[in-house]
Amino acid sequence: MRKFAAMKTIRIIHEKCLRCGACARECPQNVLIQSTEKSVPAVEQPDNCIDCGHCAALCPSGALEHSAFPQENVCEVREDLRPTPESLLELMRSRRSNRSITSRPVPENVINDVLEAARYAPTAENSRRVHVSVIRESSDIQGIEDATMRFFLRLARILLHPIVKPFTKLFLTDLYKQAPALEVFRKRWEAGERPSVCNANVVLAFSAPKGYDFGWQDCNLAYQNASLMAEAHGISQIYLGFVQTACKLFGQRRTAELLHLPQGHRLYAIMALGVPALKYHRYTRR
Ligand SMILES: Cc1cc2nc3c(=O)[nH]c(=O)nc-3n(C[C@H](O)[C@H](O)[C@H](O)COP(=O)(O)O)c2cc1C
Repeated sequence: MRKFAAMKTIRIIHEKCLRCGACARECPQNVLIQSTEKSVPAVEQPDNCIDCGHCAALCPSGALEHSAFPQENVCEVREDLRPTPESLLELMRSRRSNRSITSRPVPENVINDVLEAARYAPTAENSRRVHVSVIRESSDIQGIEDATMRFFLRLARILLHPIVKPFTKLFLTDLYKQAPALEVFRKRWEAGERPSVCNANVVLAFSAPKGYDFGWQDCNLAYQNASLMAEAHGISQIYLGFVQTACKLFGQRRTAELLHLPQGHRLYAIMALGVPALKYHRYTRR
């Protein structure tokens, strides 16, 4: 049987509308039009609506009914729970990539809050195509670690070969400078640690559909929301650029397997999460 997409309905209840025009002024798609001051806005071409929810969130009298936002999904803002500028800045100043992670599991409620925070990041045209894969099986995390380490050690064998080394030093200076750090990683990896993923108990992979133009931006904005939430819970979060670089060269299929990406998705950011072993008592000015 052929399926039809659910029709979008946006309705303004005339008796409740204060005619303030806020919904029309803010609608980014011009779906709501207030033709004259103090008139009830009209709904035009509702199919152009991008479901951003600004109209429902702005309406001071609850006069706007939107099929994408049933009443139970339109929530009052708790002003008393919003952070002060000082407390938010303090969180940002004291946030660190805390790489000393214990083997204790990251509590479930923290993972849920981190994912919820990621969901609330802005996305281009409200397209909300970011997917966050949650990897917490130890064997899966070990798979990511092993693939990354083997990749970089193979690369180092080539780039640091006595014949190639002078060229690496000259033309791939940044990579060359990483050689001593890689050696430290190798020793730790051989001793059973997971240095590439900072010994994380949970790895989050942020991905978006391959052909989507704003994958980088959307995924990294979601990442930032998620990382601040982890920080607010006192949980370590580290951006795994090392793993991401390896994934770029593994190719799409291998990356998708390792990081549990949905079909047709591309990887744009990876986060390690874990219970910290150390506490930062100070921040350094930037
Ligand atoms: C794109 C990107 C990639 C990163 N990759 C790694 C990584 O692979 N491993 C790691 O331990 N830290 C990684 N980091 C963390 C940075 O090293 C860290 O943010 C920087 O040194 C500043 O420290 P802070 O985050 O504590 O302020 C990465 C950060 C970014 C933004």
